[in-house]
Amino acid sequence: MVELAPSILSADFAHLADQVQAAGDGGGTVVHVDVMDGHFVPNLTLGPPIVRSLRKVTKLPLDCHLMIENPDEFISAFAAAGADWVSVHQEACRHLNRTLHLIKSHDCLAGVVINPATPVDALAEVLDIVDYVLVMSVNPGFGAQEFIPGSVHKIRRLVEIRAARRLNYRIEVDGGIALDTVTDVVRAGAEILVAGNAVFGHGDPKSNAQRLLKTATEATLLRV
Ligand code: DX5
Ligand code: ZN
Repeated sequence: MVELAPSILSADFAHLADQVQAAGDGGGTVVHVDVMDGHFVPNLTLGPPIVRSLRKVTKLPLDCHLMIENPDEFISAFAAAGADWVSVHQEACRHLNRTLHLIKSHDCLAGVVINPATPVDALAEVLDIVDYVLVMSVNPGFGAQEFIPGSVHKIRRLVEIRAARRLNYRIEVDGGIALDTVTDVVRAGAEILVAGNAVFGHGDPKSNAQRLLKTATEATLLRV
């Protein structure tokens, strides 16, 4: 089944608890938290204190997407703040195997992320370690960017590899997910759908989430 992970990057931070509640009421089951350091990506966002505050206002799993250099230095702080899932970029990790084990040692689910220019094959040696793989369908750094259609084949490839190697990671997709793109990624096999702008960008987050999840759920019937 598909899950919706509203990304708070596009939320109104002055009313974060209410916004997360509304997105959850609309069917969001994972809260996606974008952590940016101004080095790995050209933008700055938030750190463990916001995760700690969110932890107090929601029971939904907190999915921390670390777009930072040297993630090893911060993993324990995010885990202590209440992160449930932690993902790191393949491109940011010099010792990816070690970093993924570090995440697991904190009892968090471990995810690995690939940028649009990184092939799925770059993950061959860690797919048996991770709990989930996050396919970026935009270049990370900002919300409300245009979906890159070339990401869809990577999702399909991850489904094939999982079956061939009898693995059980889940497949998440992030960037440009909206009513006009969600069907393609779900048909390809995406299971966790991150959406920032489509949920929080305009209008009511609850009904935005409901609409997106409905379209996504209908698309599961079209999977090939
Ligand atoms: C981008 C972030 C995304 C972002 C997606 O670097 O990783 O999680 O919030 O935003 P939308 O859904 O607006 O493309
Ligand atoms: Zn993200």
